[in-house]
Amino acid sequence: MVSHEPNSRNLSERAISARGVVKAFGSGDARTLALKGADFEALEGELHLIVGPSGCGKTTLLSVLAGTLGCDAGQVEVLGSMLTALSSAEVTRFRCRHIGFIFQQFNLIPTLTLLENVSVPMLLQGAPRREAEARASERLGQVGLGGRERQRPTQLSGGQQQRVAIARALVHEPRLVICDEPTSALDSVTGHQIMDLLSGAARAPGRCVLIVTHDPRIYGYADRISEMEDGRVTAVHSGHALGAFIQAAQRS
Ligand SMILES: Nc1ncnc2c1ncn2[C@@H]1O[C@H](COP(=O)(O)OP(=O)(O)OP(=O)(O)O)[C@@H](O)[C@H]1O
Ligand SMILES: [Mg+2]
Repeated sequence: MVSHEPNSRNLSERAISARGVVKAFGSGDARTLALKGADFEALEGELHLIVGPSGCGKTTLLSVLAGTLGCDAGQVEVLGSMLTALSSAEVTRFRCRHIGFIFQQFNLIPTLTLLENVSVPMLLQGAPRREAEARASERLGQVGLGGRERQRPTQLSGGQQQRVAIARALVHEPRLVICDEPTSALDSVTGHQIMDLLSGAARAPGRCVLIVTHDPRIYGYADRISEMEDGRVTAVHSGHALGAFIQAAQRS
């Protein structure tokens, strides 16, 4: 857990700055405006939560920030690179190198073992297989799945698959970790273990962890919380106001 005293930590550079992001899906009568000019900012060294009702655009915003989804308008700067000005090949390279993404649906590869799944981000960066597998094995141990390296995702419960996805997102020590509901399928004890791991990842210099959640049990880990509604960020809570926001959310 972190203190919510203002300036209690040395938060510094902006890790993410998004301005006026617009994203529509579909066309004609089926057109949905998922992001309606969203502004968002996260700092290096912080664990930042995004909360809001179902359908308000949280996953869409995360996908745009991670570069897995292009936007129709607006500017997105991540770790000093203007993603919206890069080619798709450049965005892919940037993402492999700097971003670990935990998807809402886990996105594990069913034909690969757990060890192979978790090794993928390091192999994509050109690491030798032995080194990638040694790190993958270490990460699987950290999420409580040591000894299960040779199993496949289909042999695991939803919560266990979620932990493999978390190990995979952290294996190459990315500067930005983006997580969509990382504790949704986890019991309370495991959820706190995973949040401790993600908090550790946020505290290293130049790093940032961004988490979408509906789970008020983990609000206390946040340095800041952005609230979304109807395609926009409508409030940002930090310092003393964050403590009050968390208390109110945990009471209701
Ligand atoms: N691929 C898609 N095609 C069409 N519409 C989409 C698509 N993805 C999202 N949408 C729509 O965009 C809006 C925002 O969706 P999004 O998934 O970002 O919401 P969310 O805040 O993550 O919701 P939840 O909390 O339920 O995960 C919703 O109205 C949704 O139906
Ligand atoms: Mg979502």
